[in-house]
Amino acid sequence: MSELSTHFEFGRNWSSYAGLIDEERVAEAVRGLERLAGAGGLSGKTFLDIGCGSGLHSLAALRLGALRVLAVDLDPQSVATTRQVLGAHASENQWEVREKSVFALDANDLGHFDVVYAWGSLHHTGAMYEAWRKAAGMVAPGGMLIVALYRKTWLCPLWKIEKFFYSRAPAWVQRASRACYITTMRLAFLLIGRDFKKYRADYGRSFRGMDYDHDVHDWMGGYPYESVSPRQAEKFRAELGFLPVRSFVLNRTPVGIFGSGNDEYVWKRQNPVGMQ
Ligand SMILES: C[S@@+](CC[C@H](N)C(=O)[O-])C[C@H]1O[C@@H](n2cnc3c(N)ncnc32)[C@H](O)[C@@H]1O
Repeated sequence: MSELSTHFEFGRNWSSYAGLIDEERVAEAVRGLERLAGAGGLSGKTFLDIGCGSGLHSLAALRLGALRVLAVDLDPQSVATTRQVLGAHASENQWEVREKSVFALDANDLGHFDVVYAWGSLHHTGAMYEAWRKAAGMVAPGGMLIVALYRKTWLCPLWKIEKFFYSRAPAWVQRASRACYITTMRLAFLLIGRDFKKYRADYGRSFRGMDYDHDVHDWMGGYPYESVSPRQAEKFRAELGFLPVRSFVLNRTPVGIFGSGNDEYVWKRQNPVGMQ
């Protein structure tokens, strides 16, 4: 399990991204979260956001009627950014942001939550299954666990090495690496007759309010890195004793040439016996 010193500087990237947050991106984040939680799924619910990043999705939860949000992140810059984003857009008595690792979460101290959300964070902890178990342990009986995790692909071992070096490289090497990645992607789009410019410009409208360039940096540097296949996720769900609600698994080749992509899983914690 790794700590902040061995992590990619996620928080720095989120701090830079946060300057782009506008109502259009918030609306897209709301749409993305509602698709996972279901219509009305967050209304009056307590919400724990693990690895909150920019705080945009905690904000989306509040917009969807969450009663109270606790956002946590290991990275102090993610914490500061989330405080700033929520402070600018949401009323203060409904949310709290803490600098905390998923491994330090304790339901005896914080209570359980109706909805626990960990989008794209557990695979960056260095001990994905342990983090996943911790997240599951924070869900109240009958509550929901929403996670997004990188899909296992053929190129995952290579990407892991790439991320190890990229996350430790000087800024100019990172810039050059991103330029190579983006140029290769541009060429691939050209070959298959897709409009790269439009893809890049529309990115925030189709990917949860995110931004292409910040996502490329996050993808190339996101270390530690792990991934999981839908079959392994299903096995883990059964082991945890959760029920499947819905999932959005990517329909792509198993190669993972430009990245592995995130599969999204929504599970429900069973009520105690006799309360289903
Ligand atoms: C790729 S970002 C995802 C951010 C956000 N959930 C989103 O969907 O935009 C991953 C986040 O997980 C955080 N993180 C990594 N390890 C963590 C840990 N052990 N505990 C809590 N957060 C962690 C990182 O600092 C980063 O902000």
